[in-house]
Amino acid sequence: MASPLKSLLRSSDLSKSDIELLLNTASKFAKNPLRAKKTLAKRTVAIYMTKSSTRTRLASETAVAHLGGTPIFLRADDLQIGRGETISDTAKIISGFCSALIVRTFAQSDVDELGKYASVPVINALTDDDHPTQLLADWLTIRENFGRDIKNRKFVYLGDGNNVANAWLIMGATMGAHVVVATPGGKWAPKSSIVEAANKIAKLSGGKIEITTDPQAAAKDASVIYTDVWMSMGDSESDRAEKFTALTPFAVTNELMKLTAKDSIFMHCLPAHRGEEVAAEVIDGPKSLVWRQAFHRRTTIQALLYHLTRGELKGN
Ligand code: CP
Ligand code: NVA
Repeated sequence: MASPLKSLLRSSDLSKSDIELLLNTASKFAKNPLRAKKTLAKRTVAIYMTKSSTRTRLASETAVAHLGGTPIFLRADDLQIGRGETISDTAKIISGFCSALIVRTFAQSDVDELGKYASVPVINALTDDDHPTQLLADWLTIRENFGRDIKNRKFVYLGDGNNVANAWLIMGATMGAHVVVATPGGKWAPKSSIVEAANKIAKLSGGKIEITTDPQAAAKDASVIYTDVWMSMGDSESDRAEKFTALTPFAVTNELMKLTAKDSIFMHCLPAHRGEEVAAEVIDGPKSLVWRQAFHRRTTIQALLYHLTRGELKGN
């Protein structure tokens, strides 16, 4: 038998059947958070973050607690890693004390290295390139709203071609969805290697990937309009003025929402900047599912911890 998936290092690690299992389990955790309260009893989970977080930290600590475990939150300057201890030594030490490691940082290669040297599951809680746990919450929110049949539905991401856009391309492709990513192109386009990988996955899953620089064409008849901040953590402040000028036509306004399907929804991973990437009347309006989406950060991270620590995911 093939060995189970050890870690979630990137969005492409999960197969469609892994995602199905995680979403089903997360739905159960939404109804009853304490249904598996002994899974991590008397065990600890390290949560190591070198970037800010509101939702992911709260969701992760709560998920560990609901599984009966104790979260240990660590920042870079709490650890000797900030004074030059190697990533590999750190990974080995954390593995000696904790049953899993949830990590948010800048370089994807650092998460890969932690995954390589840790003997316990490592979960990517956001890097400059990816945000896989976010996409699990997004897909559960979509499923609750539209059901399982996503044929003839268009899933549109508008804005900066960042980590969330990358994750959308890969996990949308895995789900067999028609994903449209609209960015100003050039410096703000999603990485070509990610688009290539998403196209390969879509070929097998029956999904479809479209990359465009036309926000109106993208929004036309869309079922989901998704956006994210224009300045991500770690982005260079010297780009701000140029980036905002390029991204202004991609702002999600009421006018843009009028182009979408009648039953369309608005999604945002949050934090949001009203008046920048989204108008207040959209994010605070009747089509917005952002609060349910944020709620599912906990249910899906809880499902991920549950199945990864039991070796029940298959991977690709
Ligand atoms: N969506 C998300 O990852 O939020 P935080 O940055 O607050 O964790
Ligand atoms: N793209 C944003 C997502 C925050 C959840 C960032 O990386 O800052």
